[in-house]
Amino acid sequence: MFDKVLSGKIALVTGGGSGIGFAIAKQMLTQGAKVIIASRKQERLSAAAAKLSAYGEVRYHVCDTREPEQVERLMQSISETEKNLHILVNNAGGQFPSPAEDISIKGWNVVINNNLNGTFYVTQTAAKHFFIPQRGGKVINIIANIYRGFPGMAHTGAARAGVDNLTKSLAVEWSKYHIQVNAIAPGIIRSTGLEQYPPELLRGIEETIPAKRLGTPDEVAYLALFLASHLADYITGETIYVDGGQRLWGDVWKM
Ligand SMILES: NC(=O)c1ccc[n+]([C@@H]2O[C@H](COP(=O)([O-])OP(=O)(O)OC[C@H]3O[C@@H](n4cnc5c(N)ncnc54)[C@H](OP(=O)(O)O)[C@@H]3O)[C@@H](O)[C@H]2O)c1
Repeated sequence: MFDKVLSGKIALVTGGGSGIGFAIAKQMLTQGAKVIIASRKQERLSAAAAKLSAYGEVRYHVCDTREPEQVERLMQSISETEKNLHILVNNAGGQFPSPAEDISIKGWNVVINNNLNGTFYVTQTAAKHFFIPQRGGKVINIIANIYRGFPGMAHTGAARAGVDNLTKSLAVEWSKYHIQVNAIAPGIIRSTGLEQYPPELLRGIEETIPAKRLGTPDEVAYLALFLASHLADYITGETIYVDGGQRLWGDVWKM
């Protein structure tokens, strides 16, 4: 029953050239999907696509998800090349740690634009090109552990809470088109994204997590795989945490 649950499916993974997005692309390829990875840096994408091609059919497209025209071109290229899209994983994103009082207006807008606006542009454009006309699709939004706010990264907490709420609105509005919209909230995942944080911020952090360890990109990818498959057809509007229990107990960052 669990063999190749994504056979014949076409998936777009934004930010699929590194970390969690790469792991999601890899797991989807192993389960029979064709995968398009998209982000800003061509070198990163081509190196990732070369590695991913060991698992299945993959191609890349350079796209900054903050730019609606580039997002439109991405969907046009999928229309021309694959003709169809079944799964969208909104994983592209990024932020930086800062006390709230020190976040500049520019820095605030950059993080909101990247994590909230970009997610909306990609989702709406994919829905109009593919999911609504074909009456079906799966959207999976990668957010973050915002269960108790996001002290130390208020900008991304606000952006991800926006995506959490958007997930619910779209799940209801688009249920008539048989589109399921869900979110995954990773805790602290040992991934490329962590490399930008100062080591002192992360030192000893395992002890504050009930699971006493960080998560792995594959542990996020397994849930994405499930949500993308027909096994999750009755799940929509949900945010599922993959965080070793961190939303419930322990300091997220040393303040
Ligand atoms: N690692 C964690 O502990 C953790 C926890 C919670 C949430 N998350 C979130 O999960 C996602 C993946 O994280 P990660 O750890 O795998 O980090 P990562 O390796 O830095 O991945 C982020 C990816 O997003 C792409 N990206 C960033 N801005 C983009 C834009 N404007 N347009 C298109 N692509 C863009 C980057 O590629 P380019 O540079 O080529 O554009 C990169 O491949 C991120 O949204 C991250 O914030 C991570």
